[in-house]
Amino acid sequence: TSNHLRHVESMSTLPSGAGQIPKLNALILGEALASEEDDLIVPSQDFSAQAHIPSPHKYLEMYKRSIEDPAGFWSDIASQFYWKQKWGQPVYSENLDIRKGRIHIEWFKGGITNICYNCLDKNIAAGNGEKIAIYWEGNDPGVDASLTYNQLLQRVCQLANYLKDIGIRKGDAVLIYLPMLMELPIAMLACARIGAVHSVVFAGFSSESLAQRIMDCKPKVLITCNAVRRGPKTIHLKDIVDTALAESAQSGTVVDVCLTYENDTALKKESTKWVEGRDTWWQDVVPKYPDTCDVEWVDAEDPLFLLYTSGSTGKPKGVLHTTGGYMVYTATTFKYAFDYKPSDIYWCTADCGWITGHSYVTYGPLLNGATVVVFEGAPNYPDPGRSWDIVDKYKVSIFYTAPTLVRSLMREGDEHVTRFSRKSLRVLGSVGEPINPSAWRWFFNLVGESRCPISDTWWQTETGGFMITPLPGAWPQKPGSATFPFFGIQPVIVDEKGVEIEGECSGYLCVKSSWPGAFRTLYGDHERYETTYFSAFPGYYFSGDGCSRDKDGYHWLTGRVDDVINVSGHRIGTAEVESALVSHHQCAEAAVVGVEHEVKGQSIYAFVTLVEGVPYSDDLRKSLIMTVRKQIGAFAAPDKIHWAPSLPKTRSGKIMRRVLRKIASRQLDELGDISTLADPGVVDQLIALADG
Ligand code: WTA
Repeated sequence: TSNHLRHVESMSTLPSGAGQIPKLNALILGEALASEEDDLIVPSQDFSAQAHIPSPHKYLEMYKRSIEDPAGFWSDIASQFYWKQKWGQPVYSENLDIRKGRIHIEWFKGGITNICYNCLDKNIAAGNGEKIAIYWEGNDPGVDASLTYNQLLQRVCQLANYLKDIGIRKGDAVLIYLPMLMELPIAMLACARIGAVHSVVFAGFSSESLAQRIMDCKPKVLITCNAVRRGPKTIHLKDIVDTALAESAQSGTVVDVCLTYENDTALKKESTKWVEGRDTWWQDVVPKYPDTCDVEWVDAEDPLFLLYTSGSTGKPKGVLHTTGGYMVYTATTFKYAFDYKPSDIYWCTADCGWITGHSYVTYGPLLNGATVVVFEGAPNYPDPGRSWDIVDKYKVSIFYTAPTLVRSLMREGDEHVTRFSRKSLRVLGSVGEPINPSAWRWFFNLVGESRCPISDTWWQTETGGFMITPLPGAWPQKPGSATFPFFGIQPVIVDEKGVEIEGECSGYLCVKSSWPGAFRTLYGDHERYETTYFSAFPGYYFSGDGCSRDKDGYHWLTGRVDDVINVSGHRIGTAEVESALVSHHQCAEAAVVGVEHEVKGQSIYAFVTLVEGVPYSDDLRKSLIMTVRKQIGAFAAPDKIHWAPSLPKTRSGKIMRRVLRKIASRQLDELGDISTLADPGVVDQLIALADG
């Protein structure tokens, strides 16, 4: 058993309600807390008293059951949802050990349900029809809208009826390429209602990336809008879609219908380019359909959505989530990690184009009947106070964002925060990358006025929901630590050989058994699923992250240990950027590494070898960067191009990235052993060109 679990076992003999929180926490860990008092931030008694999980003791009681009896634990929770037909036995089945055969994970198989029904109809039946489901805030202050649960259901049903009418059936893929309009969650829910599989592509991806995803999942319909305003800029999304559809059609994937929402604050219909026969205006067709629509009942293990994410090879992976387990898991993690109560107003700044927007803008909150703020714009436009303006306007009580935003606002000065009230806030959240202690403290002390616990939630596209996260009323926090595992999660830290290490340690973060929200496969490539995630350390799911555990058992995420770079919380594969660079006709070879960046967490640093005879120039630098923007998207553009006459390689031809990382971060005295390089002289050449 893991270290954590051993402590849990030893806890079972403790009397209930023993002692103060820190003392009890020390008891959990079987020893006094090793940290200095001032490194611990204890939730106020008022907060803990009203919290769902008010103490470590309560957490442990539930955690222990979730590990010892996962079927019973999750069945009890799942029973609170609507099922047309209850699931069969066993409640779950799994094999996470590649040595024992194919990897498989199933939860609530045989259970018949619908996640859209549980988000909308069920909450309406419970008397929440007139409650606001979505407050929508436009890019420009003063532009806003809202939908009650009743209205949201009507909108979803109209779109669902339209989709059925054009022939979309259960299991069909629907690609959604929309910015943060209300139509984005509406489109996701409409797909879910009729059993179609949505594949949302972040609207910051370029036409080439979009085309690649279209060709992989072959949707019958693509849902988009004509344009969007983001900050001071207008982005013509429909043009990007046109290029992508033309490109995919050329390779044999023809999308029949392009349903286009007229986002008239950004661009009028008349100015939008149009392909007759293929393109349809949303506003011309969807409102004509009935605003009720029968639900397509699906099996818990029927697919809900695909979401592409980056890995260590060039081709993005289509992460597949199914219905029942994902539903139960996102709803439960949302409720406990944010200590959600029906009176809360919740705002998550993530875009629905990423997993955070799937699980914690759309599904998790709506399953709980929450009121969600959906924001179209940029959090620092028209000025760095915009976020807190929105918090005050809607009386946001739970605010969930990424460390990169915290760090960028921190630089703008405290007065942009303090001129707003922020009195409504009670819980803060962080996701996407490790939050450094100084940003944590600024967020806690200044934004939350030392009143709001911070839930630093560690999880991934693949995990569907939170894995390691504070439960805000339960235990003292440490700035920068994601603390302890959620119910049902058994994280383990292993060494290079895959051996579990206990106590205070650091190594590779793995998970030992399945949980309801886990992804089930990579779309169309189960073998890649097995090799990417279950082969490195047989018997475990390997996250790709490094992690250390301190003396008190707290978990500290240390970043990716594979070839993935995390820029402003966006996952980017080094191989994707490299393949974009080498597609430039003057680039012979490229090696990309991540370097620490004050605001973005990491930035992209590219070593580029040019084709023989091509001279270095600023224009070429720009054109290389342009190529990456075009092929992936602006968010993946390298910050630095470092000219490299050649790259440091071992005698077998492998690029030594370790050396490149040190050169990129100018840690020149830490290059380590370079004697195994085929040509150690390369290193000096690179250093000489470092600032050229
Ligand atoms: C990183 C985003 C530290 C991590 C939900 C992970 C984090 C990757 C945290 C997944 C956190 C996410 N602390 N690191 N609280 N949250 N990460 O798939 O490296 O876009 O593997 O999912 O982000 O990114 P993804």
